Amino acid sequence: RTVYLRDYTPPAYLVEEVRLTFRLAPHATRVLSEIRFRPNPDATGREFFLHGEQLKLISAHVDGAPVTPELVEGGLRLDAPDAPFTFAAEVEIDPENNTALEGLYRSNGMYCTQCEAEGFRKITFYPDRPDVMAPFHVRIESDQPVLLSNGNPGASGEGFAEWHDPWPKPAYLFALVAGDLVAHSDSFTTMSGREVALNLWVREADIDKCAFGMEALKKSMKWDEEVYGREYDLDVFNIVAVDDFNMGAMENKGLNIFNSSAVLASPATATDADFERIEAIIAHEYFHNWTGNRVTCRDWFQLCLKEGLTVFRDQQFTGDMRSHAVKRIGDAMLLRSAQFREDNGPLAHPVRPESFVEINNFYTVTVYEKGAELVGMLRRLVGEEGYRKALDLYFERHDGQAVTIEDWLRAFEDATGRDLSQFARWYSQAGTPRVHVAEDWSDGRYTLTLRQETPPSPDQPEKQPVVIPVAVGLLNPNGDEVVPTQVLELTEAEQSFAFDGLLARPVPSILRGFSAPVILKQEQSDETRAFLLAHDTDPFNKWEAGRVLARTGLMAMVLDGDGPHAGYIDALGRGIADESLDPAFRAQLLALPGEDELAQAIFETGQAPDPTAIHEAREALRRAISARLDDVLIRLYEAHQVSGPYSPEAEDAGRRALTNAALSLLSLTEGGDRARAQFQAADNMTQQIAALGTLLTIGEGEAELKAFEDQWRHERLVMNKWFGLQVAAARPEAAADTAEALTRHPAFDWKNPNRFRAVFGALAGNAAGFHHPSGAGYRLLADWLLKLDPLNPQTTARMTQAFSTWRRYAPERQALIRAELERIAGTERLSRDTSEMVGRMLAG
Ligand code: ARG
Ligand code: ZN
Repeated sequence: RTVYLRDYTPPAYLVEEVRLTFRLAPHATRVLSEIRFRPNPDATGREFFLHGEQLKLISAHVDGAPVTPELVEGGLRLDAPDAPFTFAAEVEIDPENNTALEGLYRSNGMYCTQCEAEGFRKITFYPDRPDVMAPFHVRIESDQPVLLSNGNPGASGEGFAEWHDPWPKPAYLFALVAGDLVAHSDSFTTMSGREVALNLWVREADIDKCAFGMEALKKSMKWDEEVYGREYDLDVFNIVAVDDFNMGAMENKGLNIFNSSAVLASPATATDADFERIEAIIAHEYFHNWTGNRVTCRDWFQLCLKEGLTVFRDQQFTGDMRSHAVKRIGDAMLLRSAQFREDNGPLAHPVRPESFVEINNFYTVTVYEKGAELVGMLRRLVGEEGYRKALDLYFERHDGQAVTIEDWLRAFEDATGRDLSQFARWYSQAGTPRVHVAEDWSDGRYTLTLRQETPPSPDQPEKQPVVIPVAVGLLNPNGDEVVPTQVLELTEAEQSFAFDGLLARPVPSILRGFSAPVILKQEQSDETRAFLLAHDTDPFNKWEAGRVLARTGLMAMVLDGDGPHAGYIDALGRGIADESLDPAFRAQLLALPGEDELAQAIFETGQAPDPTAIHEAREALRRAISARLDDVLIRLYEAHQVSGPYSPEAEDAGRRALTNAALSLLSLTEGGDRARAQFQAADNMTQQIAALGTLLTIGEGEAELKAFEDQWRHERLVMNKWFGLQVAAARPEAAADTAEALTRHPAFDWKNPNRFRAVFGALAGNAAGFHHPSGAGYRLLADWLLKLDPLNPQTTARMTQAFSTWRRYAPERQALIRAELERIAGTERLSRDTSEMVGRMLAG
């Protein structure tokens, strides 16, 4: 049941128009469809097949005459005319028992849908593939007060509403919502002067959490006009918040559906990080209107065509709204911790995969985040102007089409004249390239020699060189920049780049701005790194110098029994005390590499990481920083407190990030009084939860934990934090027990993906706890994944990734994890989603 990219064939029939009527009922919703088909002149065959799953077929007609289709696995077949015709069907579905949250389902009594990637086939029989695009007419019959679908509103009255979406779209962009909702409304006037009605639909209790999301939407609409020249194209734009949702959000045409955690925010209930994430997700889904909806994907192998590009666009947007330097560092941290982890393990796959069993398993950091990096590299290679020309051509040429990566690259080639045939390898080759650096200095000439290699990955033993834009600057020994940033294009396996006219041997700053998603292998002394931390003009590499110092120091603590490196701590102290630097940037300087990142780095040296030792080393370094820098930390904590009413804007958020990072370190030597005082005084969630987290981490905060629960027991989103924090802050030996105890809490609603993830995502993220040698973490997670799988395969499969690093570890841990993976794999009636994931992990 594996699907291959190479097997693509065009659809036999195209759809000219769709009419759908929904008679909503919890257990027996009727869906009536009328679909106007015509033979596809470009097709190779004439077989008429419609996808359909878990549908009860009531009746079917072709051009008004009753027919009896052949029901086959995954759909129906019919002898269809070799001319245009109308297919009509009536089916019955059961939204109330749809626990997979795919297709039409119910969340707290509200009807809603999630169709990407292949959920529409659970609503009615249809060619459920993205290269079949059609305009939709929808009629909803229900006594729910608010009835929504895609496009513009049509007639409505007592118990019904009609919608018309004139823009041809694939079925995965279909959406329907029916519920007891209220709107936070506003409007936006587009660049050509059309007025668009904007609504954010929520349950009444959440109406006070909409203002920020609405502002983010208006900023996104404006930004896409200004930066990409893209205007919105319907009279209304609706967003709906849903509590039960597998992913973050969905870009359905004109009717975005959001996980409530990705849109609802008030100062009291959401943190600065939540606000920033919400702004980015609102932008992301809105930007899909052009990159995804108007121009869509030919097939699901092309997923990065819309996701990589749209992530890149939302990253640009966040950089423009906040700080480019801080955003770039955050994105690089995510790429390294999550995508490199994927790219260097059994789940490695190309940005454009070549096969899949279940496409939902490929909504990955590789497709999304590495996909975005490829867009960023293209932009760097062709320049800002070339990029804009290429995008304009792409939109103009492919509006209304379902296209491929080849079409995307051709737009760049045609707009800029650049040959991208080698660049295209980035899309087909999995794995993270390593770039080795060698330096030479003789006769006033400085030479950088760069060598690239990409290790083998599943199904790809041999790798070819890729095009790697390496942004480089040179500093002279007194700290001045002598060669400003330039982009070296590494295209061969090995290449040298010479710099003449220098008076002294320079210090190189390589891979500035993290110009390519590669692992840099560079021998450098701690002194040189401290020098770059002090003097580099590139903010990313300034931060990176500190990061590498921290990482190498930590590795020496784990592997060689070193104590904390005083040189690093002093360099860090100078960095965080530098008042010319943005507080948000200094907060990032203070963030030590995570435990999983260290495990990855140790594995990279050919040794098996010990999560317990890593945890202890990291804690020891944190205590040493706290002890040695306490004066600086206290000064920072006091000097950067934010006064006045809460604002989620970047400036205040950056100061809170810095003071809370300082608080967390300070408490290691000072104890919890300062955090307790902050908890008491807090008037916003950022300050409150940072204080609580600090207390729990040092083994205090019992009373505050209880007070927090009492205060927030009626706010589901806040209670997710309460659940997650306890597991995240638990000592390694207590993490599994803490998680287990929480599963017995009356508010542990395990069928809600957010709540399930709060506990088990936190367990998987507590590296030393999850990997505790007892194996209790592994067992507990496997037990719960097996419990969830029959209900919600998608979320289960996603969470199996906690086990994906198993081959890194020493034999005892490997054996424990393997036993759990095999136990899952051997379970009867395992979902296709989960069995694919576990199978790949065991094989890779
Ligand atoms: N297209 C959505 C987004 O990135 C994600 C939907 C993923 N859904 C899924 N079932 N895999 O904005
Ligand atoms: Zn997306």
